[in-house]
Amino acid sequence: MTTTTTQPIVTLDGQQPRQPGLPSAPTSPSETHPTNPRPDLAATVGHTPMLRLREASALTGCEILAKAEFLNPGGSIKDRTALGLLLDAEHRGLLRPGGLIVEGTAGNTGIGLALLGASLGYRSVIFMPQTQSREKIDALRISGAEVRLVPAVPYRDPDHYAHQARRYADELNGVAPLSAWFADQFDNTANRDWHEATTGPEIWQDAGGRVDGFVCAAGTGGTLAGVGRALKARNPAVCIALADPAGSALASYINTGELVASGNSISEGIGSSRITANFDGAPIDLAWSIPDDESVPLTHQLLHQEGWCVGGSSGVNIAGAIRLARKLGPGHTIVTVLADAGTRYQAKLFNPPFLREKGIPVPEWLARAFPVEPAGT
Ligand SMILES: Cc1ncc(COP(=O)(O)O)c(C=O)c1O
Repeated sequence: MTTTTTQPIVTLDGQQPRQPGLPSAPTSPSETHPTNPRPDLAATVGHTPMLRLREASALTGCEILAKAEFLNPGGSIKDRTALGLLLDAEHRGLLRPGGLIVEGTAGNTGIGLALLGASLGYRSVIFMPQTQSREKIDALRISGAEVRLVPAVPYRDPDHYAHQARRYADELNGVAPLSAWFADQFDNTANRDWHEATTGPEIWQDAGGRVDGFVCAAGTGGTLAGVGRALKARNPAVCIALADPAGSALASYINTGELVASGNSISEGIGSSRITANFDGAPIDLAWSIPDDESVPLTHQLLHQEGWCVGGSSGVNIAGAIRLARKLGPGHTIVTVLADAGTRYQAKLFNPPFLREKGIPVPEWLARAFPVEPAGT
């Protein structure tokens, strides 16, 4: 792999080369599509297709639209986050040519950082809870990152993966200043700012300026806060809603001001027990806690009836879109995101025994695809 460090970074329109570290603020991405050929991986992040979800639209009498974020080069919406954080770090002189990226992540942000890092000449070390899907852990390893799996503990525990990542970067910088950059996706608001500058305007443009509501889950909160701000700036009447998985405390926080969580979810990468800097102050009008037996069947239906194979969190988002459509009534346009692909969670999402154990309905077609094999075969 080439590790040239002097190549220009290209903004989303693929037309404005920028040297790493040069003081040109990465804040004005183009709302026009990039031109082909694309010069590098960064120029392929974003500008995802906007899909019309046929069944959800028919069910509600609304136009339910979704950005196909699983089509980003690293396979998730977090490629956008990774690019925004990287550009900001370079702009602020925090990431030097050939430097080391350090991050704590449930997986997708790490994959984005590692792949963009490979393209731009950076190495990466990723701290990740060992409870995440095998598919994501493997994807991270083959993306070139050094993966450090750590026990899944609450954020208040000093061994939480985000604290371990920060400590590791601090230790390296203590020995050699500016040798490592801690991306800090949860509390680095360059994350939210990038979504405000890119994802939000793209959504507005893709929907022809007809957006009545936007809904999605929050992990760091960067997507919801950034897109929410961008859409409200264009039309303050746009309704911004949070679809929160069971086991997360964010919906309760929006509805009651108290961080209270109940239940649990097989979804990954979303939900939180605390208010991150990216989530703080997000312009959220409505919030729901969505149980798995509502969201997971929607991912199964989307695959079986419309051909889109998306992850469990996208089911949470579609459930949120249906709830928001019912709240606003027929005739409205609701937008959400399909954050990553179902193949990243195959051993859970499409595994009948696992689903049954979790009390999640198994559709007939899925049970037929994976029949129980007689013992001894
Ligand atoms: C898998 C996944 N990761 C992350 C997010 C949102 O990320 P964040 O709040 O960190 O921007 C979503 C939102 O739907 C998601 O589905």
